[in-house]
Amino acid sequence: MPHRVSDFRTIIEPFRIKSVEPLRLSTPEERAARLEEAGLNLFGLHSTDVLIDLLTDSGTGAMSSEQWAALQRGDESYAGSPSYFRFEAAVKHLFDFKHLIPTHQGRAAEKILFSVVGGPGKVVPSNTLFDTTRANVEASGATGVDLLYPEGRQPSVPHPFKGNLDVEALERLLSEHGRTRVPLVLVTVTNNSGGGQPVSLENLRAVRAVCDRHRVPLFLDACRFAENAWFIRQREPGQAHREVVDIVRDMAAVADGMTMSAKKDGMANIGGWLALDDDAWALQCRNLLILTEGFPTYGGLAGRDLDAIAQGLTEVVQHDYLRYRVRSTEYLGDALQKLGVPIVLPTGGHAVYLDARGLLPHVDPLQYPGQALAVALYREGGVRSCEIGTVMFGLQPDGTERPAAMDLVRLAIPRRTYTQSHMDYVVEVVERVAAKARHLRGLRIVEQPSTLRHFSARFADV
Ligand code: F0G
Repeated sequence: MPHRVSDFRTIIEPFRIKSVEPLRLSTPEERAARLEEAGLNLFGLHSTDVLIDLLTDSGTGAMSSEQWAALQRGDESYAGSPSYFRFEAAVKHLFDFKHLIPTHQGRAAEKILFSVVGGPGKVVPSNTLFDTTRANVEASGATGVDLLYPEGRQPSVPHPFKGNLDVEALERLLSEHGRTRVPLVLVTVTNNSGGGQPVSLENLRAVRAVCDRHRVPLFLDACRFAENAWFIRQREPGQAHREVVDIVRDMAAVADGMTMSAKKDGMANIGGWLALDDDAWALQCRNLLILTEGFPTYGGLAGRDLDAIAQGLTEVVQHDYLRYRVRSTEYLGDALQKLGVPIVLPTGGHAVYLDARGLLPHVDPLQYPGQALAVALYREGGVRSCEIGTVMFGLQPDGTERPAAMDLVRLAIPRRTYTQSHMDYVVEVVERVAAKARHLRGLRIVEQPSTLRHFSARFADV
């Protein structure tokens, strides 16, 4: 009997390559010099000095030939462009909220939303707020509170839905603060800062029930909604035979609105949106949109970008794509685990997260083990990763510093961009760094801005 491709052991990329982008192989001396110039901050590197760029999966994916064709179809009319209506139809096919507001990327949607619903004294609970989301909540004067399910905070403890929100903690928070202080609950799917871990439908529905009791709206930060839905299909009882599109619709059905970065599961290089049911909030949001992003049928995007997203949304929910996507990330995670490198388990959807505190137990969290590890990976083999730990989250609004819940290094996999041999190379680089882990030293910050310091801080060895 002929086998299905998905039965084979080898993960094949369900696409072939039509256009290639050369990679430049640098020398160790060059990398050391570039690190010094960048103040040991990998955001400061020129990307041409990076061999394998796992800094982010955001906007860095490869578009399909159909997406490139869609760019050509893009209509650049200021108002009422057909590109907008194709975008609207594609979004509403999955997320049928009453109002749809395109933005140039996710954080623009966050900025608009929290300018309207946030403000001093307000509290925004979440499983975990992503860094820009937290910054936008705080910029409005509100406070963000992460209520992650306890298993989600333990890197080595596997659990199928480590992104779940702690429903009892939410109940307590809402009983204490009530709907006057809590404008909405935001659930991040998948939970990026907590290891790319999914949230179950059961948990979303339980959160919804608590929100209903307290009459507080529930929003999704839906950046990686398709990966989340794939995990639900794989791991949640009774979901295995369902279409991902239907699971996504179920996720949308529990919510009153969403923020979205189309740079992730929109499969585009730029774009995002805010969608919501509430008429009064939508009116205020659209007014802000016009002030900062643009007219409501383009929201800071070119018509061609809207078309690329519309096409991307049809591709991201395809099972062959998602099977490859999640299994190829797992392939990297499995290989690192075999080497004994501590990682967040199970492997996330868009990234493998190295547990830097586990690998460098001799480095104090306030000497940034994650940053030290990320720098070492670049120095060793030109692999760029991203610290998600005390550098990103340790600086408190009052200027003091405390260790983040975890010190992780994220190896984020751009969509449809690197092949299996690239991942084999990354494994080799991590293996070499792990072999000398006990000699790696911590870092100190010599210069930093007051918010979102990870983008521009400069470091030196301690
Ligand atoms: N929410 C989550 C969960 C994200 O991961 C991001 C971006 C955003 C919101 C903001 O979207 O970048 O389009 O403004 N995450 C990227 C990352 C930057 O590398 O994880 P944006």
